[in-house]
Amino acid sequence: MQAVKPTIVDKSAHAEFLDKVVAANLDPADPWVRDYVSMSWERARPYFMAKGLPAPGSRVLEFGCNLGASSIMLASMGGEVTAIDINPDYVDIARANARAHGVPEHVEFLHVADTRKLPFADNAFDLVVCNSVLEYVHDDHLDSVLGEIDRVLKAGGILFVLGTSSGLWPREVHSRAWLVNYLPRTLDPIIRKMSPDFMRGLSPWRLLRRLERYENLDRSDGDNSLLAAKRQITPPRKYALLRLFRVASLALGTSLGLLLPSITVALKKPQPSGLAKRVT
Ligand SMILES: C[S@@+](CC[C@H](N)C(=O)[O-])C[C@H]1O[C@@H](n2cnc3c(N)ncnc32)[C@H](O)[C@@H]1O
Repeated sequence: MQAVKPTIVDKSAHAEFLDKVVAANLDPADPWVRDYVSMSWERARPYFMAKGLPAPGSRVLEFGCNLGASSIMLASMGGEVTAIDINPDYVDIARANARAHGVPEHVEFLHVADTRKLPFADNAFDLVVCNSVLEYVHDDHLDSVLGEIDRVLKAGGILFVLGTSSGLWPREVHSRAWLVNYLPRTLDPIIRKMSPDFMRGLSPWRLLRRLERYENLDRSDGDNSLLAAKRQITPPRKYALLRLFRVASLALGTSLGLLLPSITVALKKPQPSGLAKRVT
């Protein structure tokens, strides 16, 4: 399939999408609803393009699909996508969204209430995409969720984590709250009572620890593909800063996307014989 920017091709499915959005108490005029597919195409697609992903016809799992924007993008880029979310309303909306964008035969949406157990066979997917989702997974569930992602990903397959709020930074990227990433976890129940939107970023080191034997493809390619993507979507001054950060990431023996406020990293699952590099 040729990668053509998805547009609304089925007006009645789009009307259904909007009805479901309103029924779920979402605002249809919110850009994260109205323009989500288009924003994913402009802002997320360059990261995939730079890495040649998804391979045409490859089996892709989108973990935490929300309203389906990344899944629609990945299907439009040639992937055969299965998309899951814990929220049944989102899955229902995403299904209508995929029909509206003309890709329903390339995306299957499933509601999975507890993603510590995924309803897929071992080695089912070539690519697992976690776009802005792992930071939403309950801390106590994260290791099990990553274990399941590892189970359903083929040996040699890629886990692509992007747009994920990093716990290393003093300002949490979604809530824009300062220093919350550094507070002791024992305070979480109290803070959540005061501020229901409270959230923390994910520690990139925690991700790497759980997937210890995976190869960090960004480190392997010296961050070149990540920078190629950033160049397309980042203003020149900020891009120059990123190049400086790359020097720091090389000096630290890690990859640029693990040090940024939004984590971006592609991790390759080792072959069973396991001569893959450790991630750092
Ligand atoms: C910011 S949205 C993800 C955006 C989406 N990946 C995209 O690129 O369009 C976060 C999503 O994570 C889902 N989520 C939260 N906890 C989850 C979990 N434990 N397992 C799977 N999905 C989860 C939420 O329901 C929500 O739809």
